[in-house]
Amino acid sequence: KKALNLTRFRKMKQDRVPITVITAYDYPSARLAEEAGVDVILVGDSLGNVVLGYESTVPVTIDDMVYHSRAVTRGAPSTFVVTDMPFATYHGSVDHTLRGASRIMQEGLAKAVKMEGGAEIAGAVEACVNAGIPVMAHIGLTPQSIHMIGGYKVQGKNSKQAQKLLDDAKALEQAGAFSIVLELMTEEIAELITGSISIPTIGIGAGAVTDGQVLVFHDVLGYTADPFPKKFVKTYANIGETIRSGISQYVREVKERSFPAPEHAFHIEQELQQPVYG
Ligand code: KIV
Ligand code: NA
Repeated sequence: KKALNLTRFRKMKQDRVPITVITAYDYPSARLAEEAGVDVILVGDSLGNVVLGYESTVPVTIDDMVYHSRAVTRGAPSTFVVTDMPFATYHGSVDHTLRGASRIMQEGLAKAVKMEGGAEIAGAVEACVNAGIPVMAHIGLTPQSIHMIGGYKVQGKNSKQAQKLLDDAKALEQAGAFSIVLELMTEEIAELITGSISIPTIGIGAGAVTDGQVLVFHDVLGYTADPFPKKFVKTYANIGETIRSGISQYVREVKERSFPAPEHAFHIEQELQQPVYG
């Protein structure tokens, strides 16, 4: 399989070929995602909620992102891997931004980074692009700003919000972003943005009008402790239940001494079972 690059990425939009993205956080999930044929794997800072058990993505660090990116890039060596820049790591000096982004590329072996925000992060996007670091942008609901936004609310509902989202998308394209994630916004504004820029939009909770779709691995597979399914997610498997029942059967069989069975045990060689001195 030929891994994606930025030229082919842009061509997929021109050719109207939908771009498939899924998150992954470790070696086996990345491997399975690559085998299943996704175009892009995102090492999302959603790993904070999904695999580290935090209440938001705010506590996630560059070290966390590097650690998980290393596992993912080992599992999916032929897939274009994008890694999130975590909370407040691209809002200070250009130096600080480039230090974090470089670690994600050099230690995490990602092919690109992703950053949340609009026109206000255009400088950070441009600095990375100038350093040879491709940037995927991310607007709409931006979970790292949850304490500013005050909740997971649908964006772009009124014309003022919609205009700001469109202006942000254009500013990010201008700054050199190669793609933009559109999260949790009305389908109307997602369609307007997608038609107004030449770089691909990747939607999550933004309807069917974007150039691609992204979902969280654990949401796609029902591998989650989250009791509230999200409206924009489709669950394609029930891995959580499969795991729970598999583990309870294991526990039961050990308690009943039906595992290990004779075929799982090892034995000494036949001649050693004879008396050594006879
Ligand atoms: O962290 C993440 O998983 C993301 C996607 C939901 C776009 O940013
Ligand atoms: Na993210």
